[in-house]
Amino acid sequence: MRDKLLVDLLSRTLYEVVERCLPVELAFKRACKLLKAKLGYGERELAYEKARSIVSDYMKLLCITGSKVRSYRELVRLWFNVESLKTPLPPYCQLSYNAWFYGRIVGLLGREEGEAMLRSLNRRNLWLRVNTLKASVESVLRDLEREGVDYEDDKHFYYMVKILSSPKPLRQLRIVKEFKAIIHDKASAAVVEVLKPEPEDVIIDVTAAPGIKTSLAMMLTENRARIVAADIDVKRLKVMKVLLRKYGVNTSRVELVAADSAYINIRNCNVKVMLDAPCSNTGAVGKDPSIKIHTSHSVVEYYSNIQRRLLENAVKLCNLIVYSTCSVMPEEGELVVKAVVDRCSGLKLVKALPWASPGYNVVVFRDKLMRLFPHIHGTEGFFIALILHR
Ligand SMILES: C[S@@+](CC[C@H](N)C(=O)[O-])C[C@H]1O[C@@H](n2cnc3c(N)ncnc32)[C@H](O)[C@@H]1O
Repeated sequence: MRDKLLVDLLSRTLYEVVERCLPVELAFKRACKLLKAKLGYGERELAYEKARSIVSDYMKLLCITGSKVRSYRELVRLWFNVESLKTPLPPYCQLSYNAWFYGRIVGLLGREEGEAMLRSLNRRNLWLRVNTLKASVESVLRDLEREGVDYEDDKHFYYMVKILSSPKPLRQLRIVKEFKAIIHDKASAAVVEVLKPEPEDVIIDVTAAPGIKTSLAMMLTENRARIVAADIDVKRLKVMKVLLRKYGVNTSRVELVAADSAYINIRNCNVKVMLDAPCSNTGAVGKDPSIKIHTSHSVVEYYSNIQRRLLENAVKLCNLIVYSTCSVMPEEGELVVKAVVDRCSGLKLVKALPWASPGYNVVVFRDKLMRLFPHIHGTEGFFIALILHR
């Protein structure tokens, strides 16, 4: 690709991420469209990987330039100058996080582990879930081998596969295009495993769209559970409807409901509730490094308030609730659970996954909570709590 076009693409992507708060994937697509970039398939993938890397390195570039930076183009040129990236910097700059993000994690995990976690969070972990509604595990593994994908079986979930390397992006694999395998992080699958869906279950997924966890619950019950899938976002529910069909889910057993789940009211002792709450997504920095740029204490507090309202209502709905967030911040995990447990008497917490890490040391019941981390479990950062009424 011509150097000028690449510099233009990267600087436009940075602009879209920083100024318009777009996720990297969307920012890059927009940059390609605006610049009318006609790229071959391989070229586009290469340019996209560079776009992801430069967005991930953005905080570091700001540290190097101080306040002297004049344009995104200048930042891109600086990024290409490998020597400049070797400038000695404080650790938060070196790892390319803002000082608050770095300080919060190092304060919780200690310097050595905190830095290992942040370093690992910068990398993308790739997982595929075999969609057993459409294909067997054996046939999918055979297909992966045929396509030259290097993978590892997972020791906890028979249908999860960790991808070590792939000659092409996962979404371009035939089995992914045919929905026989779904790009799905193991930590997200673990949330559904904690819910333990059974064929006779009625499940209320109160924040369901776009339905990746609903579809796993249906897969684990061979399409026999009944799910009420609620979400406040009608557009996302529409996408979910299409996806569920493509995944082979029996949609006659899934009722999609547009609702604000802080207020829904269907008290039923026999249902299970899954609350995979909206969050800062700080556990998914590897997938979308733009998250590092826009996350601040106030963003985390904003989500924390929503999560508290959703969980307070969820514990009123039934006797078994799984609460999860794709966040590495305790304000969206341990402290939300604490606020609700303090307010509602008679709740009990269960650490359903013995292999998960405990919660952060900010609540006395941390051993009853579950955290999955990139540097320990090779997954996105996730918080999971299983809450039961005594
Ligand atoms: C993390 S996503 C859920 C992902 C989904 N569980 C999955 O696995 O595909 C959070 C969802 O919560 C929805 N949401 C946010 N506030 C809500 C509310 N008050 N009531 C219901 N849904 C809400 C968002 O629209 C978003 O779709």
